[in-house]
Amino acid sequence: MLINGKHQQTIWVNEQDEILIQVFDQRHFPHKVEVFDIRTTKDAAFAIKEMVVRGAPLIGITAAYGMYLACIEARGEKKPNLYLAEAATELNATRPTAINLAWAVHELLSAVHKVKDPEERIKVALQKANQLKEEDVAISKNIGLHGLGVIKEIAAKKNGEPVNILTHCNAGWLATIDWGTALSPIYHAQEAGIDVHVWVDETRPRNQGANLTAFELNEQGVRHTLINDNTGGHLMQHGMVDMVIVGTDRTVRNGDVANKIGTYLKALAAHDNNVPFYVGLPSSTLDCSIADGVKDIPIETRDGNEVKYMQGKVDGEIKSVLICSEDTPALNYGFDVTPAKYITGLITERGICEASEEGIRSLFPEKFG
Ligand code: MRU
Repeated sequence: MLINGKHQQTIWVNEQDEILIQVFDQRHFPHKVEVFDIRTTKDAAFAIKEMVVRGAPLIGITAAYGMYLACIEARGEKKPNLYLAEAATELNATRPTAINLAWAVHELLSAVHKVKDPEERIKVALQKANQLKEEDVAISKNIGLHGLGVIKEIAAKKNGEPVNILTHCNAGWLATIDWGTALSPIYHAQEAGIDVHVWVDETRPRNQGANLTAFELNEQGVRHTLINDNTGGHLMQHGMVDMVIVGTDRTVRNGDVANKIGTYLKALAAHDNNVPFYVGLPSSTLDCSIADGVKDIPIETRDGNEVKYMQGKVDGEIKSVLICSEDTPALNYGFDVTPAKYITGLITERGICEASEEGIRSLFPEKFG
């Protein structure tokens, strides 16, 4: 997708230096467009943990390149497989909810497991990471094409009025490699000439909606309006939302969906107001080993200071300001789980299915072992 009118992806191997992985530093959007260098596994772990990169699919691909860098670091090790296992543990520990992380690390480990020659191992790891990256682009694109059908149906009933879509957090191209998951159908609708308008939840405390979703929609020229996190229910009661679409960090066997904290409340409001609630789901985010998402998906708890401080631009500089008393206790859950019963459909790269074991099984039988 576009930044300053130029087509970009969120992560790339430097053209001159194959052991340098580069990403946009998402901590500074929308105020600065800066590139962050990843040269070691530790850099990759830092980038994921500190949210230089974020969004389940991008976290996964960054971890895949982190494992490639681990293969380079393991070159001189007496026990390279032990080194790789430790690197995998370090990467997996960075963020617990987005399952794409563990999935991508596992894919890399499996690819290099039996390769004995260190140089060959590095080559195989790079190929695998590049392959996962390319697959992610295709997956996001196909989610967009399937989701476009839903938007078309809504548009057909609106007699030329814009289709109003509410989204939470950032599940656009910045959260993936290109296109996005929840935003991909919106970009495809724009390309198809459908008049779309997006309500963007600010998404406290890290403000992925304000900082990232609004930024990328603006760069793409998609009409949008930023709202605070508490506004969606009111808009839905007044017929101002035609559909909700969000991303997911982990979707489990029964169709329960973990996504950014606050998603569940949007689903409740949508249910109460008969607004369709869709989830853009790449298969890399499926975790069929868990039966009940509400009970069993691990929920990341982050530093309370993210709630107590807000970051923004003050007098031309990015600054952090305290919004409560210094000694106020704060609790910061990163995600919540939306039960399947509130979800109208899962929009996947293979089509749209019901949020249920039957629905998921119909499209992804191989995920059930
Ligand atoms: O904490 P983040 O910014 O990594 O959370 C991101 C989300 O919750 C996204 O909605 C989710 O990862 C889907 S991304 C396509």
